[in-house]
Amino acid sequence: MFVFGLQKYKKICIYPKKIVTLRGFLKLYMKIAIIGYGKMGHMVEQIAIARGHQIVCRIDQDLEGFDSEAFASADVAIEFSTPASAKDNILRAWEHNVPVVCGTTGWDVEELRGKREELREKTGREWLIWKSNFSIGVNVFFELNKQLAALLAAYTQYTPSITEVHHIHKLDKPSGTAVTLREGLTMHNAQCTMHEVPIESIREGEVAGIHTVVWDSPEDTITIQHNAKGRQGFALGAVMAAEEMAGRDPLSPPSKGEDR
Ligand SMILES: NC(=O)c1ccc[n+]([C@@H]2O[C@H](COP(=O)([O-])OP(=O)(O)OC[C@H]3O[C@@H](n4cnc5c(N)ncnc54)[C@H](O)[C@@H]3O)[C@@H](O)[C@H]2O)c1
Repeated sequence: MFVFGLQKYKKICIYPKKIVTLRGFLKLYMKIAIIGYGKMGHMVEQIAIARGHQIVCRIDQDLEGFDSEAFASADVAIEFSTPASAKDNILRAWEHNVPVVCGTTGWDVEELRGKREELREKTGREWLIWKSNFSIGVNVFFELNKQLAALLAAYTQYTPSITEVHHIHKLDKPSGTAVTLREGLTMHNAQCTMHEVPIESIREGEVAGIHTVVWDSPEDTITIQHNAKGRQGFALGAVMAAEEMAGRDPLSPPSKGEDR
């Protein structure tokens, strides 16, 4: 399971109007490059700065900045772009020796498996964290979904289905989160392996993301749901994943270039 290492980042002292985090106290901040400067890119920037990190480079559709010194100085890149561009962006970041946290959905991360393993073997470190959903709540929801599927494995009168609701700008369908939920069901319940669990995708206004898993039987219905209140949760999870990836803990090597 994705672990955010929350205990590492606990607040250590609270002054009136000022909170000093363990991270800030030990100067464990990172240089971050943002790839895909849209809704998520902006939110990541906001959260990263609030956590004391420095944004050294912002790259969008024109790809300007990839070959800059600023980009190469990044400890990690956080990528939220489009299904068509995520893979090339990651490969390009790797060419510059920058590991990537990627949240872009609607493409197959398995396409990078070979190169990723090669880099991992060569360097002994991780080069990519991809998650269909970085929100802490959703990652707990994924576990709950698997547990419920396992509990219902013996009761074949229950039939599962998934519904996802998102804003009208979303490019991929079904959502990556819904696909991960379906994978969780398949792993833990034999009837989900035999019959593909249906996913209904609804596009509505500016909805940040609602995922519902329903188990229906002739006698009753069991429903679990995650409702994102905005994009902050996704961005926070991505920044925390970047912190883990860059190993910003007291025993880790200093940041590239300078040790601020
Ligand atoms: N994993 C998660 O937790 C999570 C959460 C929210 C959104 N997402 C996914 O993140 C992606 C981005 O979402 P968004 O809401 O920020 O979308 P958005 O449309 O607001 O932003 C995408 C940005 O990427 C830019 N872009 C287009 N082509 C590019 C390229 N070749 N290189 C770099 N940038 C390029 C666009 O100009 C735009 O600014 C989507 O795939 C979405 O499903 C994932």
